[in-house]
Amino acid sequence: MGEGIKLPVLNGLGRTNRIDNWLNQPIAMGVALTAAMLYTAWRLFLYPDSIYYELEGSKVMSPIFSPNVLEWELFGLKDWNHPSWVNAAILVLWIPFGFRGTCYYMRRVYYRTFFASPTACWVDEPEINKKIGYKGEKRIFILNNLHRYFLYAAMIIIVIKWWDVTHTLHFTEGWGVSIGTFVMGIEAFLLTMYVTSCHALRHLAGGALDRWTTGISRLRGQLFGRISVLNRSHGFWFWTSLGFVFLGDLWVLAVSEGHLSDVALFVI
Ligand code: FES
Repeated sequence: MGEGIKLPVLNGLGRTNRIDNWLNQPIAMGVALTAAMLYTAWRLFLYPDSIYYELEGSKVMSPIFSPNVLEWELFGLKDWNHPSWVNAAILVLWIPFGFRGTCYYMRRVYYRTFFASPTACWVDEPEINKKIGYKGEKRIFILNNLHRYFLYAAMIIIVIKWWDVTHTLHFTEGWGVSIGTFVMGIEAFLLTMYVTSCHALRHLAGGALDRWTTGISRLRGQLFGRISVLNRSHGFWFWTSLGFVFLGDLWVLAVSEGHLSDVALFVI
C-alpha cells in the first residue's frame, strides 16, 4: 500500500510548484534571529554599559542583564573581583540561549532558515542535505535532549524576573508604578507565557501516564490540557518574548543615557 508513490516535487535548491510567497517567512525569521544574535554580542562584549537606571529609588534593569547576579550576596558574587569583561549577562545568558536553542519550535525555525532543510513545505532542499540525510538528534544535535533541563533553569529565571519587577515598584516615597514597571512586567509576562507553553513542560505535567482518571493523575491531565491550549501559540510567545528582550534593553539604554525619560505614574 502506498508503494511507489512519487510526489511531483521539482528537484533543485529552492525549486517548487508553490505560487505563494513561501520565502517571506524564512527570510524574515532568519533576519530576525541574525539581528538578535548580533545585537546580543554587541551588548555583551562591546557595550555592556547602562544596564539599569534608577527612578526615585526604584530600579529598572535591562532584560538582557536581568537577573543581575553580580549584585547577589550568594556565592560571594557581589564581592567577587571579576575580570572587567565579565558581566551579569555573560554569566546568565547561557540559560535562555540553551533553552531557546533547544526549543522544539526553534528547531523548526533554524532547520528552515539556516539549513534550508527544507526551507518550506513542498520546496526542494540543497543536494548536500540529501547526501548527508537527516540523522535525527545525533552528533551536536544530541544536545537538544537537554531541553527539559534548560526548562527547569528557565523556570527559576522567571521567578527572579518577577522579583526584579518588584524592584521597579519600590520608590523612596512608597510603592508605585513607572513606565519601567510596564517594560519589565511585560517582558516577564511574555517570558512566562513562552515557558508555560513549552512542549517539555506539557510532557512534565501530564506525559508518561497511561490515564488521567483519578487523584493526582486527573489533575495532571487537566494541567496537560491547559498547557496544550497555550502550546498552540508557542511560536507567537517565542517571538514576542524574544522581541521584548531587545525592546526592553533599548528602553533602559535610552533612559539611562538621557535620550528618554521615565516617570512615576503614581506613588502611594
Ligand atoms: Fe519551545 Fe520548550 S519547546 S521552549
